[in-house]
Amino acid sequence: MWSGGSKPRIGFVPTMGYLHEGHASLMRQAAAENDITVLSIFVNPLQFGPNEDFETYPRNEQRDLSIAAENGVDLVFMPSVSEMYPRKVLTKVLVSDVTDRLCGASRPGHFDGVGTVVSKLFHLVQPDRAYFGMKDAQQVAVIQQMTDDLNFPVTIVPCPIVREPDGLALSSRNVYLNAEQRAQAVVLSSSLAKAREWMKDASLTPAALVNKVRAAISEAPLANIDYVEVLEYPALATPEAEAPFHRTQQRYILALAVKFGATRLIDNELFEPV
Ligand code: PAJ
Repeated sequence: MWSGGSKPRIGFVPTMGYLHEGHASLMRQAAAENDITVLSIFVNPLQFGPNEDFETYPRNEQRDLSIAAENGVDLVFMPSVSEMYPRKVLTKVLVSDVTDRLCGASRPGHFDGVGTVVSKLFHLVQPDRAYFGMKDAQQVAVIQQMTDDLNFPVTIVPCPIVREPDGLALSSRNVYLNAEQRAQAVVLSSSLAKAREWMKDASLTPAALVNKVRAAISEAPLANIDYVEVLEYPALATPEAEAPFHRTQQRYILALAVKFGATRLIDNELFEPV
């Protein structure tokens, strides 16, 4: 909390609400590193596709406000859609290349909506630091690129993925899963754990890793793979499929998107050069 004096440092946590411990961890980190912590809650229609869950995205404002208060947030910005977009939006922020793959390919236009709303929020909140979860690793890469390209005076702070005790990454969308789907959803994080083991094999190639992970996920009968990809991080460029990992000095991401019924879950693991 700011106690007067020179310009307070503002930490900012943008969210779409229905807050959980993943969001709370970002709030606590922001509160620890800044004088004032601002949380935004805005379900951004611009980043949802026509057949996605904008209308049904879970919402609980009263609960969100108490979670914010309990985790060091000083100010909650909770605009309506008409406040954020009073007129037809004619200006958008489009980041190329890093948006071509993964969720950018599966959800056309999604990152245009994210880049546009985060630009607007950065202008409105004017933070010194903004906190993003590595759960959405591609989003971190996109926002970092946008911040550099457009000279936003904001430091982007990537934060670790928070998980359920069984390994499932926390997500506002986990509430959509029925009991059977929820039980099988652990296959995302358990496959990433296996991948960490497989990566110890010095001759492993990106193509072989993808095959092994696809097979591991397919052991869950309700899992429907959207993508399993190994890419360089943060550029999200395609590595040479048959070159063993140990010969390169690259940081890689193994990124997964898996559907259970209509619910699409994502998770990922970063591998540092050895
Ligand atoms: P939302 O999905 O609400 O997520 C808000 C922030 O919380 C993101 O930075 C996300 O990566 C982080 N987060 C979600 N689950 C997490 C977990 N299990 N562990 C750690 N961090 C987690 O991401 C968005 O909203 C929107 O795209 C937004 C950036 C707000 C723009 O509309």
